[in-house]
Order: sequence, then C-alpha cells, then structure tokens
Amino acid sequence: MAQLDIKRRLPTDDLSEVEELLFAVERADGQRPLSDHLWIDLRQGGRPGYVGLLGWQPGHDHLVAYCQVSRENDSWALDLIVHPHHRYEMSNIGPQLLSEAINVIREAGGGHVHWWVYEPTDIHATLAESIGLHAGRTMLQMRVPLPITESASIETMPFRSGIDDEPWLAVNNAAFADHLEQGGWTTETLESRKREPWFNPNGFLLHQVGNELAGFCWTKVHLDTIPVLGEIYVIAVHPKYAGKGLGRALTAAGLTHLNRNGVTTGMLYVDADNSRAVGLYRSMGFTVHHHQRAFVGDVN
Ligand SMILES: CC(C)(COP(=O)(O)OP(=O)(O)OC[C@H]1O[C@@H](n2cnc3c(N)ncnc32)[C@H](O)[C@@H]1OP(=O)(O)O)[C@@H](O)C(=O)NCCC(=O)NCCS
Repeated sequence: MAQLDIKRRLPTDDLSEVEELLFAVERADGQRPLSDHLWIDLRQGGRPGYVGLLGWQPGHDHLVAYCQVSRENDSWALDLIVHPHHRYEMSNIGPQLLSEAINVIREAGGGHVHWWVYEPTDIHATLAESIGLHAGRTMLQMRVPLPITESASIETMPFRSGIDDEPWLAVNNAAFADHLEQGGWTTETLESRKREPWFNPNGFLLHQVGNELAGFCWTKVHLDTIPVLGEIYVIAVHPKYAGKGLGRALTAAGLTHLNRNGVTTGMLYVDADNSRAVGLYRSMGFTVHHHQRAFVGDVN
C-alpha cells in the first residue's frame, strides 16, 4: 500500500471516497459491507473511538482499501474492505491495514476486538491469525418468502418516540443481557438508530401485557437490495414473558407488517448458537442464506 491515511473524523471528500468503495463492493457481492454499527459510526461522522484507515495506490483514482475501527460497548469492532478489483492483492493489503488498526487499538488502551467477515475463507483466517485473532461466533443470515402461512395472533402498536424509549431499552437490555452488540444499549444508541433514514416507527412493533412492554419486533426495509429485503432488525421478549409463544407471534406480526407493505422476502441475522431463535425461525420457514464469522482476540 503506497499511502495510508489514518483519520479520526472523515471530511466529506474522504467520506464520498469510502462510500464509493462500499458501493463497489456491494455491487460485486450483492451485500452491503460493514456491520450496522460501523456503518452508522461512519455515516454519522465518527463517534469517540472511530478510526478510519484509507489505503491508496498510485495509478488508481479510487480508494483501494478501507479499514475501520469503532468502539462497541466495551470492545472494539474492526472491518476491512478491499476494492473488488484489488482482491487478488488481499495478502499484501490486508496485513498492512489490519496491523495498523491493531496499533491504533493498542495506543487507545487495547481491549477485546472482533472482526466480522462475510463468507470467510482461508485467507481471512490467515489474516486474522497474523494479528492475533482467532475464529469466534458465527452469524447466520436467514430468509423466508412472504407471506408466511401463519397469521399474527397478538396485538401490536407502533413505537412512540419519547414515550416508549425507556421501557424499550429495559426490555432490550434484559433480553440481550449477555449479547455483545445488542446488549447494554443506551439512549444514545437508540437515538443513533432513530436518526437513520430507514427508521420508521410504524415498523417498530411493540406488544404490551397490561401496561407493561413484554416484547417487540423492530423491522427495517432495505429498499436498495434486489430483492427488497424486509429485515427483522431486532426482536426480543422480556425474560419474564419468554417461552409463552410471544416470540413466535411477534415474528409473525413483523413479517405480516412487512408483507402488507409490499415486501416479499423476510430476512434476519441470528447467532448460529442461539438455538431457540434459530429453531423458531426454521419452524416458520426461514432458511440460511449465508453466514458471517467473527474473528476475535484481545489486544493488550
Ligand atoms: C428468541 C425469543 C424472541 C423467543 O421468544 P419466546 O417468546 O421465548 O419464544 P416462544 O415462546 O414463541 O417459542 C418459540 C419457539 O422456541 C421454542 N423454545 C422455547 N424455549 C426454548 C428453549 N429453551 N430452547 C429451545 N427452544 C425453545 C418453543 O418451543 C417454540 O417453538 P414452537 O413454537 O415450535 O413450539 C426470546 O427467547 C428472546 O427474546 N431471546 C433473547 C433475544 C434474542 O435472542 N432475540 C433473537 C435474536 S435474532
């Protein structure tokens, strides 16, 4: 890599370059790179802990590679994106950017690091090993044709901003207490999602038992994918109400809502070892579309 720029905030020109690279990868793979958290961190100007590493090469007027480091609760998320035309150079480009990213994390005090990779190959495993990371969790993307046969059997209401925030955070954080990315959300995390252009409270379905929030199904429509994907973005039932059929009913409610809005493919991400959720989705017709793996480790 001839030139490597390390940025803690991205000026508009650089942001456009990064977005161009991400679109080139999305066109090649049919899948937007960067996890949701990293994407929001990038688009909303970089929060504390954000570092972007931009790799350039002479003779190429586009960004060749981009590596991002973001704070995620108490750990670090890392991603590496190489331009589709330069993937044959992955074994040169990868180690340089990744080792610089690890240095950035070390200088900021170190901590637990995870790097999510779409359909990982041996090259990714070797790169991960070269920076001291090893294979960790596997995430499945599952899809289902819509409509499903099951109809929604419970009442839901749309999320009311400013009223439902606190109860929602309480249910989310209780249900995802042990989850690295989805647990420990704060008002600020929720606000950052509300600022996203896709946010639509009508697709953020809440179910109450009495006056208490018992569970929710938050959907997100990806208008820029082919086919348009209706994602179950986050779904959870408060542990107090778990195992009573609410998870199934909320999934059906979310999928029904998406289909009523013209979406014919449902999609979600789930940890491969979340057997309860995977079993539920399979029994409702979801199948695995692809998988992603986290390479994880600790930086001193
Ligand atoms: C996943 C979750 C939403 C399911 O909600 P729930 O209300 O507990 O689930 P339900 O009562 O509707 O049961 C769903 C299915 O799981 C099965 N199930 C229930 N408990 C189970 C367990 N401990 N292990 C395996 N399967 C179980 C049920 O038999 C049911 O299958 P069936 O409908 O074919 O009988 C809920 O457990 C949850 O909030 N988990 C934490 C957050 C999470 O993991 N969200 C999903 C992220 S993708």
